[in-house]
Amino acid sequence: MQTIISPSLLSADFTNLKADIEMVNNSKADWFHLDIMDGVFVPNISYGLPVVQQINKIATKPLDVHLMIIDPDRYVEAFQKAGADYLTVHYEACTHLHRTIQNIKQKGMKAGVSLNPHTPVAVLEDIIADIDLVLLMSVNPGFGGQSFIENTYKKVRQLKQLITESNSKALIEVDGGVNLDTGAKLVEAGVDALVAGSFVFGSEHPTQTIADLKNL
Ligand code: DX5
Ligand code: ZN
Repeated sequence: MQTIISPSLLSADFTNLKADIEMVNNSKADWFHLDIMDGVFVPNISYGLPVVQQINKIATKPLDVHLMIIDPDRYVEAFQKAGADYLTVHYEACTHLHRTIQNIKQKGMKAGVSLNPHTPVAVLEDIIADIDLVLLMSVNPGFGGQSFIENTYKKVRQLKQLITESNSKALIEVDGGVNLDTGAKLVEAGVDALVAGSFVFGSEHPTQTIADLKNL
């Protein structure tokens, strides 16, 4: 299977968002990665539901929504209505993660769980069979443009093993500091999906950059 590419709109030009969405629509990208930050779980605030609703009107590819918020259960239905296809919550933000996952799936979305860089893969042992996607953070969440944490390669391999042993169908996605160099090593380690923000939108030819990532 070719790697799924999910460009993060956090690094898009918000004064001309339509152009960047159309660029992704017309590229080899597979999903739109949407980063929702509440200023509490992470030290930054990004954008919220009204913006997701607008993106959903013109995006022709699935919305891969990454919730960096506390108490995400309160917003599961709202994000489903706003158009989320994949809804990913943080392990560190969910006291009753199993219930949250069931809630997301009952509302017809794919359920993802994200792990911060310090959170070991092993915490997913009893939930891995229930989830559709694991989003490994390869930077501390909150900002685009940070450098990749090398320990992530090891976590990808550990996660791959856990998924195989558990007969889980979960996809492995990595988020933060992805470029052609880190992306190639991640593909070799076994990732299914790559998120890239600044590397795509900061490049001179974003459509080509997406194609380059796709061809890794
Ligand atoms: C970080 C976000 C990322 C971010 C990645 O908290 O979750 O999705 O946009 O940005 P880059 O690819 O620039 O590291
Ligand atoms: Zn993200």
